[in-house]
Amino acid sequence: MRFSILPSYNSPAFRSVLPYYHRKRFIKNMTTETPNESESRSTVIANTKLTQFQQLIHSDSTNGWDECWKEGLTPWDLGKPTPVLVHLHNTGSLPKGRALVPGCGSGHDVVAIACGERHVVGLDISDNAIEKAAELSSVSTKAEHFTFVKTDFFTWCPAELFDLIFDYTFFCAIEPDLRSLWAEKISNLLKPDGELITLMYPIDNHEGGPPYKVSVADYEEVLHPVGFKATYIAQNELAIAPRMGREILGRWRRSIRESSL
Ligand SMILES: C[S@@+](CC[C@H](N)C(=O)[O-])C[C@H]1O[C@@H](n2cnc3c(N)ncnc32)[C@H](O)[C@@H]1O
Repeated sequence: MRFSILPSYNSPAFRSVLPYYHRKRFIKNMTTETPNESESRSTVIANTKLTQFQQLIHSDSTNGWDECWKEGLTPWDLGKPTPVLVHLHNTGSLPKGRALVPGCGSGHDVVAIACGERHVVGLDISDNAIEKAAELSSVSTKAEHFTFVKTDFFTWCPAELFDLIFDYTFFCAIEPDLRSLWAEKISNLLKPDGELITLMYPIDNHEGGPPYKVSVADYEEVLHPVGFKATYIAQNELAIAPRMGREILGRWRRSIRESSL
């Protein structure tokens, strides 16, 4: 616990007192850990947080997510936008119009793809998540191009439908027996020619959750019955290091023109 009396090296307090170069030296000098020791320590901390988060979710099915946000037990939160989504936005590969990010958490993805040609709605069931998203985005110059809504994805009925829905770590967060309902809701929220983009994670074989394990077949199983077919499936080469090899990008549309063939 040698660092316990110090502010986190990423905290504003630490950033403000030491320039970057000295901060690095400071951290290096304060520890005799080898990189391997330090890595395994981080893994232990991450696993402990994951266990605490899962216990909280299972102990309170109504407010569990909100409690996690309140307690800062958010091991999934990248603290920045999802790199592959930013790439798709920057390369003009995302539909314009109205976009939805269900289970948006702290809202980085919402703000990242909001622009004059695309209004983005970030939706989350947790008051604390929405408050955090509002606070983090308060300095954004794009405020008129995004909205945060505190509501339950499964019961929400907006006045207007969407051209794009982006799901990342929401499908794996919900109970697996809700996946068919998730697909129905996606189908009801998208315009007939709208696009669903899923960043499927975690593609592995672990037991329990959240996050619950997912596979492309899991998405197909619930999306095919509501008319969606994959137009693109590929490994996410832009995944962050700990998730590399366990993420697949999927793009889905309804095959509305099949009957005219
Ligand atoms: C694993 S987190 C992912 C957050 C964000 N997508 C990210 O990648 O950082 C899942 C999010 O879904 C939210 N959530 C869970 N159930 C929900 C529901 N029924 N409706 C809306 N949001 C929900 C949680 O509050 C949480 O913020």
